[in-house]
Parts: sequence; C-alpha cells; structure tokens
Amino acid sequence: MAASGKGHENWSSRSAFILAAVGSAVGLGNMWRFPAEAGENGGGAFVLFYIFCVLLIGLPVLLSEVLVGRHGQSSAPESVRRLARDSGAGEGWSVLASMGVFAAFLVLSFYCVVGGWVVYYIGVFLSDVFQTGVVGGAFEGRAAEDIEGLLPGLFGNAGLMVGLNLGFLAVTMFFVARGVSGGIEWVAVYLMPLFFFLFLCITIYGAFTGNFGEALSYLFTFDASKLTGEVMLAAVGQAFFSLSLGVAGMMTYGAYANRDTNLGETSGIIAGADTAVALLAGLAIFPIVFAAGLSANAGPGLMFQSLPIAFQEMPFGSLIGLAFFTMIFFAALTSSVSLLEAPTAWMFEKFNMSRSMATLIVGLGAAALGTMAALSFNELAEFYPLSFIPLFAETNFFDTLDGLTAKLFMPIGAILTCIFVGWVADAKLIDQENGLDGALHKLWRALVRYVCPLALTVILLFGIFG
Ligand code: PFF
Repeated sequence: MAASGKGHENWSSRSAFILAAVGSAVGLGNMWRFPAEAGENGGGAFVLFYIFCVLLIGLPVLLSEVLVGRHGQSSAPESVRRLARDSGAGEGWSVLASMGVFAAFLVLSFYCVVGGWVVYYIGVFLSDVFQTGVVGGAFEGRAAEDIEGLLPGLFGNAGLMVGLNLGFLAVTMFFVARGVSGGIEWVAVYLMPLFFFLFLCITIYGAFTGNFGEALSYLFTFDASKLTGEVMLAAVGQAFFSLSLGVAGMMTYGAYANRDTNLGETSGIIAGADTAVALLAGLAIFPIVFAAGLSANAGPGLMFQSLPIAFQEMPFGSLIGLAFFTMIFFAALTSSVSLLEAPTAWMFEKFNMSRSMATLIVGLGAAALGTMAALSFNELAEFYPLSFIPLFAETNFFDTLDGLTAKLFMPIGAILTCIFVGWVADAKLIDQENGLDGALHKLWRALVRYVCPLALTVILLFGIFG
C-alpha cells in the first residue's frame, strides 16, 4: 500500500488489491471450515446450495460492499455514512457497518485460535523432518490413531492453546500496525500463487491415491431431502464467512482501491478464486478421509487429522506437510490481517489515534476473547454462554462466536447492505462505481434489490425457527 493523503492509503496496484482481497477471502474458511461444515451438514446438498449462494447472494453482496468502501474511502462505518450523506439519506445507516466492525472483531478472536493450531502443526512437521528425514513419508512407524491424536492432545493443553493463539494474534497485529504495507502485499503477491500450486498437487495426489470417486459423489450428489433450514443457513453463513462478507472486511479493503479498478470484474475474480479453493479443499480432504476410514462429520478436526495421515504415505511427506501448513499459515494470516484491519481502521479514524495504538487496543480485546475461545476446548468445555437460545444450546464459547457471526451477524449485515445499496443510496452514484453495464448491471441490481434481501430473510427465519 502506498500512503496518499492524511491517514488514507491505497493499494500499490490493481493486482495488489485483487491479491489482498483474495488473500482475505481465501483462508481457514476454505480449508478448515468448508470441509467441516460440508461434512457436518450432509455433503452434496450443502455444497450445491453453497455454490448457489455464492453466485446469487455472495457475489452481488461482495460487489455492493467494495463499492461502498471505494466511494467512501474511509473505515467501513464512515464510508457508509458518506454514501448516505451524498445520497441525501440519514447517516444512521452507518450502524450496519458498525455492526460489521464488531462482528469482524468477534471472528478475529476465534480465528486466531485456529491459526494457532496451524502453527502447532508447522512445529510438528518441522520436528518430524529432523526425526524421519526428508525422503520418506512423515511420522515413520507411527500408527494412524497416533497422528489423529495430535489434535486432541493439543486441545488438552490449555497453556499451549492460549500461547499459540496469542502468538498468531501478535503476528497479525505486527502487520496491521505497519499499515498492511509491503509485508502483506508481499505475502499476497508471492505466497498465494505458491499456495495454489501446492494445493493443486495435493488434490491430484488425493485423486490418485485416495477414495476420489466416493468423495466426488459425497460432495456433489444433490439430495433435496437433506436441504433443511439449518443446512441452508449453514451454507449461507459459510458463503459469507468464506467471502469475508457482512463484517465490514471487504468494505474496508474496497476503500483502498483506486478509482480505475473495475469493481464488478474484480469481485468476480475474488469469488471465483475463493470458491475454487474451497471445492479443491473438499476434493483434497474427503478422498483421504474415506480411504482412511475416518468419519466425514468429524467437524473442526477434519483438515488437521486427515491430511497428516496422507502425508505419512507420500514421498517427502514430512517436507510436504511442513510446506503445506506453512502455506495455510500465510493464507490464514492474509485473512486475519483483514479481520483486524476493519476495527483498527474504524478506531484510529474515530478517535484520531495512531494506527499502532488502535491496533494494540483492538488486539488486546481480541486476546481476551480469544483466550476464552481457546479454553473452550479444555477448561471451559462445559461453558455454554448463549444456551438460552435454541440455536446455541450446548454450544461452547468458541462455537458460539463462530455461529453467532456466520449465522446471524453476517446474514443480517448483508441484508442491511442490500437494502442500503439497492434502495437507499443514489442509483447514479452506485452506477458510477460498479463497473457493470447492460444486462449484467440490470441483473446485479435486481439481485441486490429483491433476490438477496428476500432470500436471506427467508433462510435466516427458516434456519432459526424452522
Ligand atoms: N474469508 C476468511 C476465510 O475464509 O478464512 C475469513 C474472514 C476474513 C472472514 C475476513 C471475514 C473477514 F472479514
């Protein structure tokens, strides 16, 4: 990013914006959350409805968010306020982005916990490189149950869980305090392509050695009877989580985009890349899950338990495992940075403080909540903070943060964004920003005005009460 004017920064180029936004979208949501959600929600019905949500809801909302940001050139709440003011509407609309900023803070708190697990696996594979050597597979002579047991072993160690979480958060804070400058752009520009390459190799390996046919039919066979309200809400929530929507993240990044960036085209690239990675993650992980006789609905452990088993049999397995988790670390970092950036940008703009101070304050808050989330797997396993709400019955602190944001904050934020962009904001101002013309423009407008808010409201009500 290059500084331009007081406090405001811009990406150094259009491709830097695309890579940073793809970096925000592609992260643990694709590799860890998508397969876990697909497995817990019955596979095919979830996956196909997810794709439908990305195309008909996620993509139009993504374009709406980045254009609000670029018009406002500020933190998300201020950008909404500016567009409202320029459209002659009430400034109270900024509340939709304030809610988003708060949600980003909540997501950040538990996201860094999972980032900590990734760091742990980097350590595991690093020590394995020394023990097993680089030529053969990983974890020589160890039973599969042993490898699967690594994650529960980590969960049981409260001190390590908290420490790793804080470590991951500290690295995120370091980059955000530096103004998302050369560091993150560098990570996005050089490491994301490497990540894509490695990921493709592992998927191809899974296709040849794992149970690819079973994985394909599991992920893409549509069984309408499995499409319950809960599954639909989970799919919408996953689409928003994966595209970084409804939590002011993309609005914040859009504000750093140059005027000559075509936002319609860019949104298509972001959504396409993000969805491709999620589907590849499913195709990399499920063949291994089925071949190793693991259960598809193993939830959060799926990625962390199935892939290391595959690395055991691969030539150069410990090195590939090390490289793979390092790549996931970078993908997670480019996402956590955008999560921290949204509340930080709001804070330093609102209270006129330095970027470093704002980063520190938001980071300390996230450290406190994140510690509770890390302890959900051990000391606080029986603590169910919102158990009086049926959707969150018997749900620990970590899962409550996750469910609350993906199943409530994100869809509600998106509904309000659609109403704001589709009905409240001045259509001429919107048309100047979106980079679409002809039929595509009409389609986008119809989706934002009618289809998205209505579909989201129905899915939300059906998911909660259905
Ligand atoms: N999209 C990220 C992922 O899939 O890992 C998570 C995320 C980042 C959500 C930024 C929201 C956000 F604002």
